[in-house]
Amino acid sequence: MATKFFLDSGDPKETKEVLTLLGKLDGQTTNPSLIAKNPDAVGKKFTSEEIYSFYENVVKQISSQIPNGSVSIEVYADNNTKAEAMIEQGLKFNTWIPNPSTNRSDDYRLRYGARAHIKLPTTAEGLKAASELVKQGVRVNMTLVFSQAQAAAIYAATKGAKKGDVFVSPFVGRLDDRGENGMDLIKNILTMYKGGDGHVEVLSASIRSLEHFTKTIELGCDLITAPLKAYKEWVGFGSPLSMDGRGQGEGVQLKPIPYQEISLDKPWQEYNIAHELTDKGVEKFAADWNNLIDQN
Ligand code: G3P
Repeated sequence: MATKFFLDSGDPKETKEVLTLLGKLDGQTTNPSLIAKNPDAVGKKFTSEEIYSFYENVVKQISSQIPNGSVSIEVYADNNTKAEAMIEQGLKFNTWIPNPSTNRSDDYRLRYGARAHIKLPTTAEGLKAASELVKQGVRVNMTLVFSQAQAAAIYAATKGAKKGDVFVSPFVGRLDDRGENGMDLIKNILTMYKGGDGHVEVLSASIRSLEHFTKTIELGCDLITAPLKAYKEWVGFGSPLSMDGRGQGEGVQLKPIPYQEISLDKPWQEYNIAHELTDKGVEKFAADWNNLIDQN
């Protein structure tokens, strides 16, 4: 199946630009760091209430431009946040856009209204929240994925959800940053999921180069989320991707990530999901969000 295209951005003006470039867009992913980069947020401080209405407004501006697409909305979580707090946020964010119920027919759901995917960290608390949210008919996007075991745990924690209602987001660029071949992880997860029921879709994320972009498509990955710069380069208008000086390791030999035989049939709690990049990523998202809030 052809890869679906998502924009990785917290700025609705970029949604418009990509729509002009491509003619269509299947979805958009946001996260606290991307919301902090929205031009209307840069240099500003918000109260805790204001920041959520700002986020809601951004999400609404995005979803109205992609009426049948998916919009990923990320919960606030630091490494102490409990599943219950994530569930509460997820249920609230889920009301921000039209969001046809997952109980509707596939045809209805795809035709009518943007869909929210609630982004949760791939930690024990995040997986606990995911397992509960999918039971309540909420779609989820599990973020900060850096290992095949984490992807297996996501599969197990969300069993029973409909195809398209659960995304797994491996962060390719951040693995490359530390010398590991992030694209191998995408390939390995796709291979592992071939043995499953297809309810989780793989969303290639943290895209830093045109090579990441084209390889994701070559692999037949379900979805890709990429920044505006990547789309510009892909359609031949932009200059080569320069992602804030990161991921510029062209010519650098990346260490292959070997495939692991992992069964998808265990309870999710039994997989070893610990990964230092997940913990670091959670802290960075939390710090970027807290930085938007006036602490006085
Ligand atoms: O979608 C994931 C993305 O926003 C993270 O990208 O470049 O910060 O690793 P990056």
